[in-house]
Amino acid sequence: MGTPKPSRGKVPLSIITFVFCSLAFLALLYTERISSFSSSTIFRFKPCANKNAPKKSFKDKKNVGAGALNYAADDRFVFDPEECTLDRGKWVFNTSIKPLYSDRTCPYLDRQVSCVKNGRLDSDYRHWEWQPDDCILPRFDPKTTLQKIQGKRLMFVGDSLQRGQWQSLVCLVESVIPEGKKSMKRGRTHTIFKAKEYNATIEFYWAPFLVESNTDVHIIADPKKRILKVDSVDKHAKHWIGVDILVFNTYVWWMSGLKIKSLWGSFANGEEGYEELDAAVSYKLGLKTWANWVDSNVNPNKTKVFFTTMSPTHQRSADWGNEKGIKCFNETRPVKKKRHWGTGSDKRIMSVVAGVVSRMKVPVTLLNITQLSEYRIDAHSSIYTELGGKLLTEEEKEDPLHYADCIHWCLPGVPDTWNRILYAHLLFL
Ligand SMILES: *[C@@H]1O[C@H](CO)[C@@H](O)[C@H](O)[C@H]1NC(C)=O
Ligand SMILES: *[C@@H]1O[C@H](CO)[C@@H](O)[C@H](O)[C@H]1NC(C)=O
Ligand SMILES: *[C@@H]1O[C@H](CO)[C@@H](O)[C@H](O)[C@H]1NC(C)=O
Ligand SMILES: *[C@@H]1O[C@H](CO)[C@@H](O)[C@H](O)[C@H]1NC(C)=O
Ligand SMILES: *[C@@H]1O[C@H](CO)[C@@H](O)[C@H](O)[C@H]1NC(C)=O
Repeated sequence: MGTPKPSRGKVPLSIITFVFCSLAFLALLYTERISSFSSSTIFRFKPCANKNAPKKSFKDKKNVGAGALNYAADDRFVFDPEECTLDRGKWVFNTSIKPLYSDRTCPYLDRQVSCVKNGRLDSDYRHWEWQPDDCILPRFDPKTTLQKIQGKRLMFVGDSLQRGQWQSLVCLVESVIPEGKKSMKRGRTHTIFKAKEYNATIEFYWAPFLVESNTDVHIIADPKKRILKVDSVDKHAKHWIGVDILVFNTYVWWMSGLKIKSLWGSFANGEEGYEELDAAVSYKLGLKTWANWVDSNVNPNKTKVFFTTMSPTHQRSADWGNEKGIKCFNETRPVKKKRHWGTGSDKRIMSVVAGVVSRMKVPVTLLNITQLSEYRIDAHSSIYTELGGKLLTEEEKEDPLHYADCIHWCLPGVPDTWNRILYAHLLFL
């Protein structure tokens, strides 16, 4: 299974422990709240992941919403999710590309990802644009996004990478909403951004494994003490009911380099009844539990489901041929080599996702961001981050081996591209 990874047991463990410590702090900022919204929206389109769906539905102009019509009029290219593979392409440098927000203009960014505020001086990483080989991605438009989600709830569910994608989307749209017409209700596990005039919400629900674990809310820093209930998801999933657009992810928490203590079946033996499984095996059980929940609780006529694939970590500079480097520290250019794939993206996990999702009854659209993000060794928070709620000290910054965060991404940054892809799909709702 996969290629041997000699440093695996050592390096990821310490780093992930560090990341989880910062997560622990962030998680404490939240208190649980349940939105009282319910959905009455009907999606008219068959979701695009369903490869067997008749193609005409996408081209049937009668059914295209107002936003998409504007878009079609403004742009020569009709993005077709079934025909364009977004993961094949290249990053193109263009200084006239400016992010739609900054960590000073957007009030909703966590300190963890506010690289400029945290002292990052080089700015090239903000001017790369993903250009797919097969098609041209529509430019992200905040107003059109809000129109597409009008009267709807959009919820991101997953880990801190998913929280980054959520924050990116909130920041991408919030500047077009006047003061007083938007609100942010922060909870421990569930946070809701609301665009009042559009009666739309962009929410984040914290569930780092999607399935239940003993480390969901009160985070256990020591991965050896974590136990996953790989067949239980209801405690989290009850908060996903009635949401119109669900965007899931789960990956990095499974990658502690250890076997995963997994519980399933009757819990008669209590927490001691776990079995230690290979990460990919445990992941498969967990993802199947999630898939079963989606298949039996989601009405695909009402709810659109997305799944964001692995966000690559860049802990081994040898992966991209920088033998003297220290993780992603001091990297300022993306990897050029076509199809570059490092040890931070586990192919076994990718094939579990492909296998489980393809067998689902409810069509799930994959936001396959792994390959395009693999190139972006230059775009992580690195030393421009915080630890335990405090900016890294000068001493810590001088010790990137221990302190550089090569898991999370600066914002604005790569997750904005993930949302550009999500946006391209939303145009077809
Ligand atoms: C750079 O981006 C601008 C704005 O989108 C565009 O007009 C221009 O053609 C791009 N330049 C290149 C070389 O792609
Ligand atoms: C707002 O949206 C929710 C669904 O998200 C819906 O239940 C509610 O009726 C809407 N309210 C108005 C005033 O349109
Ligand atoms: C979804 O809509 C189709 C066509 O209108 C209908 O045949 C199907 O039963 C609906 N599915 C559900 C779960 O309501
Ligand atoms: C970072 O890289 C630059 C060259 O790209 C080099 O001059 C500088 O010494 C490096 N900084 C550290 C701390 O390694
Ligand atoms: C995502 O894209 C990568 C690279 O192109 C590919 O290897 C992988 O199979 C894709 N993942 C899924 C789940 O389809």
